[in-house]
Amino acid sequence: MAMEATTTLPFLLFLFLGLLLILFTSSRYPSLNTHLKFIRIQAKEPSPTSHLDHLTEIPQHPLDPLTLQEITKVQTILSSYSPFTSSFPTIHTVCLHEPDKSLVWNWNKGDPLPPRQAFVIAYLDGKSNVLVVDIGSSQVVSHVLNPYSGYPILIPEDMESAIKIPFRDARFNKSIMDRGVNLSDVICGPLAAGWYGPNEEGRRLVKVECFSHQGTVNFYMRPIEGLIVMVDVDKKEVVHFTDYGHGIPIAESTNTDYRYSAVQNKPLNMNPINPISMEQPKGPSFKVDGHMVKWANWEFHLKPHPRAGVVISQAMVRDSESGKLRRVMYRGFPSELFVPYMDPSDAWYFKTYMDAGEYGMGLSALPLVPLNDCPRNAYYMDAVFGASDGKPYVRSNMICIFERYAGDIAWRHSESSFSNMEVREARAKITLVVRMAASVGNYDYIIDWEFQMDGLIRVKVILSGMLMVKGTPYQTLDQAPDGQNMSGTLVSENLIGVVHDHFIAFHLDMDIDGSDNSFVNVHLKKQETSPGESPRKSYLKVERQVAKTEKDAQIKFKLYDPSEYHVVNPNKKSRVGNPVGYKVVPGGNAASLLDLHDPPQIRGAFTNNQIWVTPYNRSEEWAGGLLVFQGKGEDTLAVWSERDRPIENKDIVLWYTLGFHHIPCQEDFPIMPSVSSSFDLKPVNFFESNPILRVAPNVQEDLPVCRAATSA
Ligand SMILES: *[C@@H]1O[C@H](CO)[C@@H](O)[C@H](O)[C@H]1NC(C)=O
Ligand SMILES: *[C@@H]1O[C@H](CO)[C@@H](O)[C@H](O)[C@H]1NC(C)=O
Ligand SMILES: *[C@@H]1O[C@H](CO)[C@@H](O)[C@H](O)[C@H]1NC(C)=O
Ligand SMILES: *[C@@H]1O[C@H](CO)[C@@H](O)[C@H](O)[C@H]1NC(C)=O
Repeated sequence: MAMEATTTLPFLLFLFLGLLLILFTSSRYPSLNTHLKFIRIQAKEPSPTSHLDHLTEIPQHPLDPLTLQEITKVQTILSSYSPFTSSFPTIHTVCLHEPDKSLVWNWNKGDPLPPRQAFVIAYLDGKSNVLVVDIGSSQVVSHVLNPYSGYPILIPEDMESAIKIPFRDARFNKSIMDRGVNLSDVICGPLAAGWYGPNEEGRRLVKVECFSHQGTVNFYMRPIEGLIVMVDVDKKEVVHFTDYGHGIPIAESTNTDYRYSAVQNKPLNMNPINPISMEQPKGPSFKVDGHMVKWANWEFHLKPHPRAGVVISQAMVRDSESGKLRRVMYRGFPSELFVPYMDPSDAWYFKTYMDAGEYGMGLSALPLVPLNDCPRNAYYMDAVFGASDGKPYVRSNMICIFERYAGDIAWRHSESSFSNMEVREARAKITLVVRMAASVGNYDYIIDWEFQMDGLIRVKVILSGMLMVKGTPYQTLDQAPDGQNMSGTLVSENLIGVVHDHFIAFHLDMDIDGSDNSFVNVHLKKQETSPGESPRKSYLKVERQVAKTEKDAQIKFKLYDPSEYHVVNPNKKSRVGNPVGYKVVPGGNAASLLDLHDPPQIRGAFTNNQIWVTPYNRSEEWAGGLLVFQGKGEDTLAVWSERDRPIENKDIVLWYTLGFHHIPCQEDFPIMPSVSSSFDLKPVNFFESNPILRVAPNVQEDLPVCRAATSA
């Protein structure tokens, strides 16, 4: 879900939290040192952090994001572009218009860069302008007006102005004061209105919902229930006023604050944990050169993106036998998020957010909190984004990169005594993590890309932040005659945590050893034996079905009719003749149960299947459509896939959607402990054998000295 009080408030909150945590950790160490003596080798080099001077930064790779200077240049070009000379539009998106894929794969370090172009979505006089600007020649090379029904991403100015509009309406003020709330204690959030029919078309609408922040920073837990003001963001006027919440009290502020400073007055009631961190006395084993990351056998390009958050490009892994770099994935990123709430009542039915296309995962990402969002050995990367006036700004520490050793095993075997062979072999698992965290209003999404030396990539989505709660007159379930009929769980007095889903669709442009790949459904089928054939009655048999067209690759998961899903290069075989490939390995998942014709499900139709495969098309990037805000869903992955284009032995894109059903519980109040789910991209017959056979085991002498004295 999504909501932002003012754009600076959450940001300040984060800074404040970060500061608190720093203060907290530094003040804790000395007291612990009095009874625990630490022998610690100081890192020879401090942890690397990004010290790029953004003012002088120049792009080094065809996929590098637009620099500060380039965004400034785009703004200058657009200012003198004739349709915009009399009135400059608001800029909702400005990012790199990536060069053609073939140019990028054929580019080598030292070659001149392909022409640098910007992709811009600008809004002027009720029209969405989709432009491509060539920076070198100062030309607008493409300009399309209103290509789809929806509107561009909301900009901070839209949000700031939207939440002020209700205060111009006397009904609103009266309703607030009637509830005994001071107007100065009201904080409002700009909610995307979704799309619910022709009445809402032709103007940009935001639904404003308000809270009382009196006595707490966690105003989300103090909703002013049933009061929803629909506003026209452009005309800055109230379109519709809904007020059904009279008689529903505003929940108390008690126990809603989650800041360390606010909760210390009560005992922890658990044994404290001694200070812990991973030490790398010789520094990290990865290198970041501009936006290229090299670690162990991996190389990839990494960049912040205003809409997707983080984009991983040109992921390549070094072959353990030949030593050659091999292509795995051209591009991977979260393409859209869909968060429908399950309450059809007036103040709630429209809460069916598309967080990437309506708010922007990158735009919602605030600086990471050192030592807590990312470990001490993390490297941080900044983002340079464009503001609505077209001018650039720096979002510092938006991404972190770190090596993880979590005490896990990469492979092992011990030989038992009957064989008379004394074998004890085990290898530690060390991985590289790329992380970002978006705070889309009340919710926090952490997205991890984790690279393993055995060729596996794990994509993990972690949820935290605040529930979207609904005010109720009930303090306890005893008072609720229709308790079974509530749209969620009573999580605290007067608060229902409303049931909702989260779906995150990933765009995974796999290029296994080249662009032409096929999607194979490796189907496991029950076989029955014929009478007398075997003491067994049944067994499983693998049947490989190569998808010919898009519809063959629309996959719904079924536990009792299972398959593996492989992307293979049919033109490249392993030593023994298997096509080289990667498979997508699902983790925990959830499917949307909404009616296929429900308006939000039409917009979020990319959740109709968990897997889709489309032929590569550079304009098919956003699973919910390019212009999602109030879009009708005519430009979604489901619509593209319906064309049923050939996908065999072609440049294909795999789409994987990760889902969560969330039935809130009391532990989610006042802030949710994180929950996560993931999926893997795992090599299948890609390497000739175990690619980490020759990785050395850990030995004591190589490890940093970091041990506690046994007694004080
Ligand atoms: C509503 O209250 C706000 C804040 O006190 C005030 O600025 C505004 O003028 C009021 N609006 C109306 C219509 O009275
Ligand atoms: C509203 O503000 C007034 C003046 O600051 C204060 O006396 C009163 O207690 C406030 N009421 C509430 C409900 O916070
Ligand atoms: C449950 O809620 C619906 C919709 O608000 C209502 O029509 C119905 O009467 C309720 N049922 C019970 C048992 O309270
Ligand atoms: C590429 O995608 C766009 C948008 O879906 C579509 O209009 C166009 O026809 C597609 N091109 C091909 C070759 O499929």
